[in-house]
Amino acid sequence: NIIFNGPLNAVLGGTVMFTTTLTPSEKPFTTIGWTFGSRIVVTFSGGNVIAPDYTSRITLSMSTGSLELRNLTLNDRGEYRVSLQPQGDIAKNGSTRLEVYERLSGALVTSSTNLLIEGNSVNLTCDAAAGSGFTRQWKKDDSDLIPTDNVTLYSNNRVLSFKSLNKKDSGGYSCKISNPVSNIEATFITVVNYGPENVQITGPSEIHFEQTLKLTCSAESEPSATYTWTLNGTEIHNSSVFTKVITEISDSGNYTCQAMNHITERISSAVHHLTVTGTKMVSAGCIAGAVIACLIVCAAAAGGGYYIYKEK
Ligand SMILES: *[C@@H]1O[C@H](CO)[C@@H](O)[C@H](O)[C@H]1NC(C)=O
Ligand SMILES: *[C@@H]1O[C@H](CO)[C@@H](O)[C@H](O)[C@H]1NC(C)=O
Repeated sequence: NIIFNGPLNAVLGGTVMFTTTLTPSEKPFTTIGWTFGSRIVVTFSGGNVIAPDYTSRITLSMSTGSLELRNLTLNDRGEYRVSLQPQGDIAKNGSTRLEVYERLSGALVTSSTNLLIEGNSVNLTCDAAAGSGFTRQWKKDDSDLIPTDNVTLYSNNRVLSFKSLNKKDSGGYSCKISNPVSNIEATFITVVNYGPENVQITGPSEIHFEQTLKLTCSAESEPSATYTWTLNGTEIHNSSVFTKVITEISDSGNYTCQAMNHITERISSAVHHLTVTGTKMVSAGCIAGAVIACLIVCAAAAGGGYYIYKEK
């Protein structure tokens, strides 16, 4: 007949109460005996006898037989038994287990590398600075982490291992460390560097000369790529948008945009062919301003000469 609560989890240095299910009675107990493993903790048989190493750590309730144990150490873990004999009744026995846990502190997730690059492998390791008897649980961006062929957990969830990082693996990885008396959590934010990939040039492939040309280059990249433009092999510009306010016939050709990621040290490029058409163009302003003499100098690269257009 079990007569008290358990099993019990308590904090290192803390206090635990072994509570019997007996209601306080007017009749005193004839005998009380508490043992821990094979050692006596306290006995009562007309008078208390407390084992020397428990004298300052226990309080025995004479009305219920419950026992309070204080200043718990890891050595207090184990099986506790009680035998109570109410006056004029048979002895009642009970037992329970006590577990003592150190309170957790100092959760930390560390990465095996400072720089996370797509395709590389990395391990995230979760540890507590102090605490005992704990388990670990991982989440990614607040949802339970589901292991895959590429993402695996080792060593009782201590290590979260990525075989080959993918850009989709970027996010917040939190590790919750728990034992029955406490839980702590640490989060590691991963930013997977990747690219440049999918380099694209947008803009016209044909333009009339003297019009404004604008070519825009883009790439998927973390961190953002830097861009270099070349025209027919000659470097002409150094940012994502290339603009030529007044195009010339000689602006025809193959525009190459090279995107570079200085972290992944990868380079990727795209080519765009542009044809500049026409020989000359009269601007609308000149036609409208018929009274005013208007000069337009047209550089016609194809012909190699200059045309002077005069209007009165
Ligand atoms: C035992 O615990 C009590 C509080 O539960 C505390 O005041 C006391 O200092 C502790 N004694 C030792 C020796 O740790
Ligand atoms: C990650 O941990 C696993 C298992 O402990 C180990 O085999 C592997 O070499 C580690 N990888 C890295 C990148 O540290």
